This record gives sequence, structure tokens and C-alpha cells, in this order.
Amino acid sequence: MPTFRAPRGTRDLLPDERAVFDRLQRIAAHLAARYGYRPIETPLFEQAAVFERGLGEVTDVVEKELFRLAPRTEESEAWALRPEPTAGIVRAYVQHGMQTWPQPVKLTTTGPMFRYDRPQAGRYRQFWQFDVEAIGDPGPAVDAEIIELGTRFYAEVGVTGVEVLVNSIGDPACRPAYLAELAGYYRGHVASLPPTELDRLERNVMRLLDSKDPAMAELNAAAPRITDRLCEACAAHFESVKAHLSALGVPFRVEPGLVRGLDYYTRTAFEYYVAGREGQQQALGGGGRYDGLVQLLGGKPTPGIGFGLGLDRVALVLAEQGGGGSRAGDGPLAVVVGADPEDTITRLRIATDLRAAGLRARADLARRKLGRQLEAAGKEGAHFAVIVGDELAQGQVQVRDLLAGTQRIVTLADLARELARADAGHRHG
Ligand code: HAM
Repeated sequence: MPTFRAPRGTRDLLPDERAVFDRLQRIAAHLAARYGYRPIETPLFEQAAVFERGLGEVTDVVEKELFRLAPRTEESEAWALRPEPTAGIVRAYVQHGMQTWPQPVKLTTTGPMFRYDRPQAGRYRQFWQFDVEAIGDPGPAVDAEIIELGTRFYAEVGVTGVEVLVNSIGDPACRPAYLAELAGYYRGHVASLPPTELDRLERNVMRLLDSKDPAMAELNAAAPRITDRLCEACAAHFESVKAHLSALGVPFRVEPGLVRGLDYYTRTAFEYYVAGREGQQQALGGGGRYDGLVQLLGGKPTPGIGFGLGLDRVALVLAEQGGGGSRAGDGPLAVVVGADPEDTITRLRIATDLRAAGLRARADLARRKLGRQLEAAGKEGAHFAVIVGDELAQGQVQVRDLLAGTQRIVTLADLARELARADAGHRHG
């Protein structure tokens, strides 16, 4: 057993897995740019109050899963690691006066989030999200645009069988009456409520609906549904979101039980799942509208909507589905080897020149026989071995094409250009 290990619920992304994440992040960045979202970076920690007020005091994420930082004597503020990026982005929107920018302000970020969750496959204490937020547009068209963007991401990274679940969870006009009805329903079943849920019944009854406690499943299935209690404005909004989705050719299923786990949501709520996958309860991503959040965090009333897609779960599903893209391109194109094991200076100098010319090159710096150097280059998957030998006196080296098995003499001055040309030849067949 090693003395030190990564903390429980976290994991190291070793180069192969990091390469998968690189690809996901690259696709996310290109896609977000195509849809007009501009990158933003907020701190990995915020005042804890940003999350407490933004996500809701009585939510699993705030009550159980927030990583609180031990206060330092000279600081009076309580901080917490971000469990999600939306509250921080909205905090930034208010702080920097983005209300005065052309609306909506469309922002995107990708990075690690922290939740003190019970670790299991697909559930970590540090995980990555691809997030987009459109702040300042009341919808409903932008709701559909964002939901479609999520499906486009899954399609471009290569996840198949993604299902879109949508719901509307009402707004301050229709929700209070619904919550009263819901509380009445659960009060009629107090005997079947686990103690933690009993406590929440009085503090935040909506959260009973997304309880992870298996004892709640049956009770929740029979609970009154917000979808049947929407006010006229919310119902019209939801109808329009659905019409826009249909017009865009995005298949979806209305799931009246979908309420999401954070308090800031109003109206549109949605999640992405992979059909028929074991552990189906794990969403690949989710999001929704948060028309009260900007005001809650100190800004003028401003509507907003966004999503967070879990990249760890996407990587997991890609691996299960046998996708994930190739790793091609991260090994060296050329390895500089030499007949004189001691002459590391020449090998390193040539590799340095190739790298300065923009090529992926490595010099063999071990003082070992040429045969061993070549063997290592082959194992690494290098396409070319640049062999330093007697021709060096004439300013020349041998270039061996390790894929084609051919070899020829090249002048050092032409080396970078020749390798680049041969590489293009390989790639275009
Ligand atoms: P969320 O549903 O809490 O929403 O998280 C979004 C996604 O992050 C989940 O669907 C899941 O894929 C991933 N995720 C969450 N927790 C974990 C975990 N412990 N391990 C691995 N993956 C996880 C939000 O965070 C909202 N901020 C989304 C949003 C943006 N709504 C509006 N704008």
C-alpha cells in the first residue's frame, strides 16, 4: 500500500484519461462558441452564502455536500468550494454590472466542481462540468436552443442513445399553492416518511420529490404533480418550449417527476440520460431556468437558463459504448537517435531545432546502443527515427520512416520541412 493516496471520491486523470477529457473540453469549447457563448472563469471557491442563498439552504448540496473551508482567523468570511458554477457566474453577472451589456449575456465554463457526496461509479467528490448560461432572456425559445445544444454536445462527442427529459416546475405564481397541496399529501403519509424527510417536510417540501431514499420512491410516484398545477403563463411557456423542441427535431419525454435538486429553478427543468443504461438514475447532465436567481444574489430581476453536463459521466459512458476517440497525436512524431551513445548534445540539439520548428520531437537521452534507442522509438509509436551517424560530418542525417520501413539521407537544414511533408503524406494516405 502506498503511503499517500488521492482523497476518497477523487481520482487522478492519468494521461490517457486526461486526453479523453481534453477532447471533451475541446468539443465543448468549439460548440459553445458556435452558439455564441463566451468563456468565463470564476473562482473555485466563493463566500458560502453565495451557495446557501443561491442553491437553497435546505438542499442536499448545501446541507450535506458543501465542502466548507476552515475559516482563518484573519478572515471573517465563510468560504466553500463550488459545488456547481451557476451561482458563482450569476454572482459575477451582478458584481460586474452585466445587466448593462447587450442581453442575454451568454457565458460558458468548464472545470472541476466539489461535492461531499457518497462516492460510487460516476459520482465523485471532485468532478467536471461543461456549463452554459444565458442570462437575460425570458425564453421560451432560448430554453429549446439550450436543450438542443446539450444534445448536440453528446452527438459530437459520440455518446449514443441520449434521452431528453423535460418538465416545468412552475414559478412564484403557481408554486405556493402546489407546495401547500404537496405538504398536505405527505402529512397524510407521515408514518411512511424516513426521519430526514420528515424534517424536510416542514422546511422545504419540494425536496422530498428528489429524495435519493429508496423508501420514498413509491410515495413520490403517487404525489401530486406540479405539471398538472401550472398557472396559465407557466403552462403556455412549457407548451412553447415543447413546440420549439419539436420544430428543431429534438426528441424529448415529459417527466412530471423531474424537479431537480436545487432551489433556484423555475419553469423549465431538463435532464439527459442514456437509455437503458444500468444505474439509469444517474443523469448525464441537467439544467433549467432560474428566473429568480439574479435578484436573489442582489441584482435586478433578470431571467436566466443554463445547463451543466457531467464530463466524468460522459467519459464513463463513452468507455462503456466503446468510443472516446483515439489518442493519436500525443506521441512524438520523430525521435532523434544516434550511433554514438555518448553524444547527447547533438541529439538534443537536433530535437530542439525540430521542436522550435513546431514538430513533436524527442531526443533519446539515454546513453545506450542505437538498437535500443530505435526499439524505444518504435514502442512509443513514433513515425520517424532521425539517426545521427557518420553523415553528420556532411551536415546530414538518416531519416527512417518507421511506418513504411524506408530510410533515406536528409540534409539537416531540410530536416524539419522534410518531416512535416512526410507526416502530411502519412496522414492523407
Ligand atoms: P446538477 O444536476 O446538480 O446541476 O449537476 C449537473 C450534472 O453534473 C449532473 O447531471 C451530473 O452529470 C454531474 N454531476 C453532479 N454531481 C456529480 C458527482 N458527484 N459526480 C459526478 N458528476 C456529477 C447543476 O450543477 C446546475 N448548475 C446546472 C445548471 C446550470 N442549471 C442551470 N444552469
